[in-house]
Amino acid sequence: MNKTPFLLIIAALSLERCMGTHEGGQRIYASYCANCHLDDGKGLGALIPPLANSDYLAANRKKLPLVIRYGLQDTIVVNGVVYAEKMAGMPGLNEIQVTNLLNYIGQSWGNNIEPFTFDEVKKTLDEAASLRK
Ligand code: HEC
Repeated sequence: MNKTPFLLIIAALSLERCMGTHEGGQRIYASYCANCHLDDGKGLGALIPPLANSDYLAANRKKLPLVIRYGLQDTIVVNGVVYAEKMAGMPGLNEIQVTNLLNYIGQSWGNNIEPFTFDEVKKTLDEAASLRK
């Protein structure tokens, strides 16, 4: 029996799963983040820090799920520039969406952040939620 059609179906399904994850992150970014950080992740002057090639992303990997859920109101330095505006949190994004979003940002625009797993993101968010109670 010729197995080629089955192998093609499996290949097509796995390709779709991969692209689905990536596109999920990209779509969420376009809806929730790009209006400030821009499509190319470059940010906006002295007001909005860049996500492209961001040394802050690389240095604060563990904190990133919290930045998305709770926002950030701090004085931070990103690629040598000081930022002190407030970013609101996105409590409506669930753990899967946060994971896909972080994996999109972490592999875009020159970033090379070790991929996040769903379990890791969920654990970070659960721990923070229990501390905030
Ligand atoms: C209303 C504008 C706005 C939106 C929308 C926004 N941000 Fe931000 N973001 C900011 C500002 C301003 C800061 C700097 C906050 C500070 O100085 O404490 C920031 C900081 C960050 C940082 C840390 C600094 C850096 O550049 O690496 C990350 C990561 C980040 N944002 C990711 C996101 C993601 C992901 C989204 C979408 C879910 C998003 N932001 C949506 C304005 C925004």
